[in-house]
Amino acid sequence: MTIVNIDDLRLAARRRLPKLFFDYIDGGSFAEETYRRNRDDFSLLRLRQNVLNDYAEPDLSTEYLGRRHPLPFMLGPVGFLGLYTRNGEQKAAIAAHAAGIPFCLSTFSIASLADLRSATDGALHFQLYVLDDRTLCEEFLSAAEEADVEALYVTVDTAITAIRERDVRNGFRSLTHITPRLFASLCRKPAWLFDVGRGGMPSVRAVEHRTDFGRGALEQAANLSRRVDKKLAWKDIEALRDRWKGKLVIKGILSPEDATKAQAVGVDGIVVSNHGGRQLDGAMSTIAALPDIRSAVGPDFTLMLDGGVRRGSDIVKAIGLGADGVMLGRAYTYGLAAAGQAGVDRAIETLRREISITLALMGVGSIADLKERGSHLILKQ
Ligand code: FNR
Repeated sequence: MTIVNIDDLRLAARRRLPKLFFDYIDGGSFAEETYRRNRDDFSLLRLRQNVLNDYAEPDLSTEYLGRRHPLPFMLGPVGFLGLYTRNGEQKAAIAAHAAGIPFCLSTFSIASLADLRSATDGALHFQLYVLDDRTLCEEFLSAAEEADVEALYVTVDTAITAIRERDVRNGFRSLTHITPRLFASLCRKPAWLFDVGRGGMPSVRAVEHRTDFGRGALEQAANLSRRVDKKLAWKDIEALRDRWKGKLVIKGILSPEDATKAQAVGVDGIVVSNHGGRQLDGAMSTIAALPDIRSAVGPDFTLMLDGGVRRGSDIVKAIGLGADGVMLGRAYTYGLAAAGQAGVDRAIETLRREISITLALMGVGSIADLKERGSHLILKQ
């Protein structure tokens, strides 16, 4: 199939993955209202067209977390990338490095921080789920220091995991428990994961091989997900601030009040996020939440945004309304699942080109220019 945009990568991923893995990536919680709203609310914004600007290729570089980056987006944390294609985390990190942008590894990953550090010397960020076992958390932090992680993102919107109804219907409860339904689903998609040729059938042994390959990493990750600390509070963020000397970011803020509290405990930035519509269904979209949060934290505090970003114009809208950078979730994960590293390269390149064209047609010469004039360029219907 011809791949023109991120939605095409999504369709390609759907073809390749077993249904229950595709639905796990693609789905949101409960009625999926917030999941849809994240995208719909981008469509409610209008871009101002300005003509006869003596075209020059726009400068897409931008600064966030104290460093200049060549593009205004990075790869955010998505769990279990190594399940959707072999060595998925490494492939995503290598693609990010090739584009000069950071990759953020999820706590729930098949590859370890050390694996990633040996796969690439690109900028590595790490997303931490604070677990009830603080000794294990300390191990994560030491491993992050060892791997030269620049920025640590503590995710705060998952005290309780919401119900993702597609997963329930698919019987997707435990990643390690091979039910007859999981087995049947794997067999329907023989090209999945093991790069077996057409007609080859993965066997349960192949799946076991996969878990061996990660030396039980999959099982560990699935067990860890049940151990996220439900009682996490602001005092724990303060303790983390004392402990972690690198950049510290809170991921999962959706209100101006929480944003100013985050600023008060001394973190370096926040990610305006509703977990891609996978947690509080009914919550507002991130793009709708962004302007008030920017007003509350002032112009100099690092604000990232994620949720529903599938187009370069979405990224232009987010930066124009106050984000310093955007984190991709599903957009690059579809690419990875569809075609490994080449699929992530394609997702990054597609968005880069879309941003460049969009800015040129708006008569905006750079991301810096967009940040400065954003409120005049992005119009609410
Ligand atoms: C996520 N997300 C996520 N966030 C996080 O902090 N740690 C994690 O392990 C995961 N895992 C994860 C798995 C999958 C399959 C998805 C789709 C998402 C949330 C992610 O970082 C981000 O907030 C959303 O994906 C952003 O929404 P879009 O861009 O995917 O619509």
